[in-house]
Amino acid sequence: MASTDRPTRGAWAAGGNESELRISVPRLAIISDIHGNRVALEQVLRDCEVRNVDAIFCLGDIVGYGPEPAECLALVRSNCRLSIRGNHEDALLHPEVTKSWNPVARAGIAFARRTMSPDSLAFVGSLPSSFAISETLLGVHDSPVPTEDGMTYLRTKQDAAEAFGWFGERFCLVGHTHVPSCFTTGVKSARDSIGVTDVAEHDLHVHGHSVQGHSIQGHSIQGHSIQGHSIQGHSIQGHSIQGHGIVIELPKAGRSIINPGSVGQPRDRDPRASYAVLDIGRNLLELQRVEYDVAEVLRRSLAVGLPPIVGERLAMGA
Ligand SMILES: [Fe+2]
Repeated sequence: MASTDRPTRGAWAAGGNESELRISVPRLAIISDIHGNRVALEQVLRDCEVRNVDAIFCLGDIVGYGPEPAECLALVRSNCRLSIRGNHEDALLHPEVTKSWNPVARAGIAFARRTMSPDSLAFVGSLPSSFAISETLLGVHDSPVPTEDGMTYLRTKQDAAEAFGWFGERFCLVGHTHVPSCFTTGVKSARDSIGVTDVAEHDLHVHGHSVQGHSIQGHSIQGHSIQGHSIQGHSIQGHSIQGHGIVIELPKAGRSIINPGSVGQPRDRDPRASYAVLDIGRNLLELQRVEYDVAEVLRRSLAVGLPPIVGERLAMGA
C-alpha cells in the first residue's frame, strides 16, 4: 500500500462495492498471501465450499514467489467477492520497488510480470488497497497504522494496541505476516487510549502437526536460512497432515484484529495452507489448516525456472 493511500486517523474510506457488500455475510472466509501457489489455493477453495461460507474476501499478495501467479489471480477474480492489493501486487505494478528486495522475492515478481496478460495486470491495477464495510469490517493488507514508507507488520500485542487506535470497525482483517493471529480488546472506541494490557492475544496454533524429522523427496534443503528460520533436515515426504481447525469466541462488545495466515506460504512452521472463517452472526473465528500437495508445487516451481528454495521452504512452513 502506498503511503499516499493511507487515511488519517478515524477516516477510512469505503473501498470496493459497499452497497453490494452491505448484504448479510454471516460466514465470511478470509484468505491472504496466496503467492502464486495454485495447488494450495484450490484446496482452500474446496474447503470453503465444505464450510458453507457466504463470501470469500482476499487480503492481497495473490502473486509473488510461486509458480502460478496468473492462475491464482484468475481464481481470486472468479471466487472472491472482494480483494485488495498487497505489496507484491504493488510491486507488479511498480517493479522498481523490488530493487531493494531479496533475489528470491525479486525473481517471483519478474516471473509474474512475464506471465501476466495485459488484462490481468489491468485487474491488479483496479484492486483497492483497503476496504471498509459500514461499521463492521475493515480490510488492509498489513496494518491499519499508517507508515511513511511501504508496509509494516502487525505481530505483537504492542503492535495491536497501536493498531486498535486507528480503526473503529468491529473487525480489522490483516495479512502480510504469513502467521495467523487474533487480538481482541474490550475498548470500543479508537478514540480512547488503548494500552497493551487492554489487548488479549488468542492462540491460533492448530495442534497435531510437526515438521520435525522428515525428508523431502531427494531435494536437499540444508543450509537455507529464511527470515530467521534455519531449515535443516525436514521434509514433506511421509507427512500425514490432516486438515482441521480451531474455533475461538470473539467478544460481542469489543473489537478484533484477525490475521488468517497465509494460503500459499505459511511461516509458522506448519506447512498446511491457512485461512479463516469469520462467523459474524455468532461472533466466532474459525482458523482452518488445509493439507495440500507441497511436492507438486516444488515440481511446478522448478519447471518454470524459479529458485529451488521457493518450493522447498513450503515444506517447512517457513
Ligand atoms: Fe505476503
